[in-house]
Amino acid sequence: MAEPKENMQMEKIVSLCKRRGFVFQSSEIYGGINGFWDYGPLGAELKRNVKELWWNTMTRQREDVAGLEATIIMSPAIWKASGHVDTFSDPMCDCKKCKKRFRADQLCDDQYLTLTKGADGKYVLPAGTKCTSCGSTELTEPRPFNLMFKTYVGPVESEDNVAYLRPETAQAIFAQFKNVLETSRQSVPFGIGQIGKAFRNEVTPRNYTFRSREFEQMELEFFIKPDEAVEAICGSVQTVPETGHPGEPQPNWGWQAWHQYWVEERVRFYEGIGLSRDTLGFHRQTPEELAHYARACVDILFKFPFSKRDEKGELRGEELEGIAARSDFDLSQHARFSGKPMGVFDDALRTAWTKLPKEKQDDLWRRYYENRKRYLTKSGVEAEPAAKQATEDANGLAKGQYIPHVIEPSAGVDRLILALITNAYTETVKTDDKGKSETIYTMKFHPRVAPIKAGILPLLKNKPELVKKALEVRDLLRPWMNVYYDDSGSIGKRYARQDEAGTPYCLTIDFDTLGEKPELLDTVTIRHRDDGRQERLKISELLGWLLSKIR
Ligand code: GLY
Repeated sequence: MAEPKENMQMEKIVSLCKRRGFVFQSSEIYGGINGFWDYGPLGAELKRNVKELWWNTMTRQREDVAGLEATIIMSPAIWKASGHVDTFSDPMCDCKKCKKRFRADQLCDDQYLTLTKGADGKYVLPAGTKCTSCGSTELTEPRPFNLMFKTYVGPVESEDNVAYLRPETAQAIFAQFKNVLETSRQSVPFGIGQIGKAFRNEVTPRNYTFRSREFEQMELEFFIKPDEAVEAICGSVQTVPETGHPGEPQPNWGWQAWHQYWVEERVRFYEGIGLSRDTLGFHRQTPEELAHYARACVDILFKFPFSKRDEKGELRGEELEGIAARSDFDLSQHARFSGKPMGVFDDALRTAWTKLPKEKQDDLWRRYYENRKRYLTKSGVEAEPAAKQATEDANGLAKGQYIPHVIEPSAGVDRLILALITNAYTETVKTDDKGKSETIYTMKFHPRVAPIKAGILPLLKNKPELVKKALEVRDLLRPWMNVYYDDSGSIGKRYARQDEAGTPYCLTIDFDTLGEKPELLDTVTIRHRDDGRQERLKISELLGWLLSKIR
């Protein structure tokens, strides 16, 4: 049977990634290790560019976001409070015949079936689920498998010394919330951003680098006032349409407006690095799909060649980023488990509250009380202490105190890298005048993320004046961006090498640069990767021109 077209496309992409040094199998010389990948010279640059763009966009270019860089191993108490120790698991099942192991939800999804939960809360495979390896229907019942990697801190391997490699960067942000608030001169609404490694012991890593066991996240926790506080201060909470950018942040925004704002801001980010809206998809999670902490979550998807198709035959896409409204769950959990207060004092709320009519105060008090009680009982607190605590919390609101709510745009770096590579990959067949055909590969990266920004090519390598000038151009640009000097082979071959690396511009230093045509002295030819167009620019204008394209 012929390979599906999509698989062949992925195979070609994987092969180019290896051949050109974007991605290598980790520990390849020892046969590799499943679910771990390394980035080669071009991949490392690509990844660095993406992370830097995220960091600049999300922290440096905003007044209302501060950065954090926390450790990978943290107190295990963090993962107890966050719910990861108890609930961060995937359902796993085995084929009794061929012994292959599966993630039960993926096994069902691959057969367009849905994994369901029984009345006892246990997962049940729907009738007819087959092993996708041998076809047997003899499968074990799904059982939960915790995804956290365990280790021991110190020399003694005892339960007291257990620690985990973090499964998400988010929790460090919650744990350091108070320290950042106190040192950054921020006030709610504001965010804390972090980029870093995370680890999940996936049952079945798959789809190349898409689902890896070691990966990197770019996460923002954006802290906002609870809706009751906004309503007390502003009189009402702004309603928002479900789609479209709601514009510049406003004081009367509640969680829904902030959620929508971050979905749209993140789409702008993707568009700004070359992923047009039609390559993306959106999925609003259903109540059954939502994580235990979330109130709503919109996934931004990218349509990969390996994505499944819907009933209409359209690619569904895979998650690049989830934008979750996590309510005040996380900070509340850390407040309860650590015994340290995580609330903030809001002077505008305190002042506004005193001016509210009694009925409004009572209405807001009651709503806040109900929300807090719901959270506390859901988190396992008995009814009576939950009511007592919720009363204290609602009384606190009346005095200007609350635990901030949070909107979390959480993106996977490696998934994004794979999306950018897939999106950039282009094949063209060229036929020469003798009728010989050749496939040309071009990686059409947006200049902002391209691993090499400019190839610097002296026309001939045996002309010292050309080489000297080309090296001067390289040294002019090198402090500002990654450039690649190449003087070997014909100019056509060198262009082709740069096209495959995804370099958007090649700068050729030729005899006109040296003044053969006096009016062209100290100019270079810029050759554009995507259409082969050429133009001439003064060396003195090169840096500014290139910076305007790559920033
Ligand atoms: N912090 C959300 C996630 O890691 O998926």
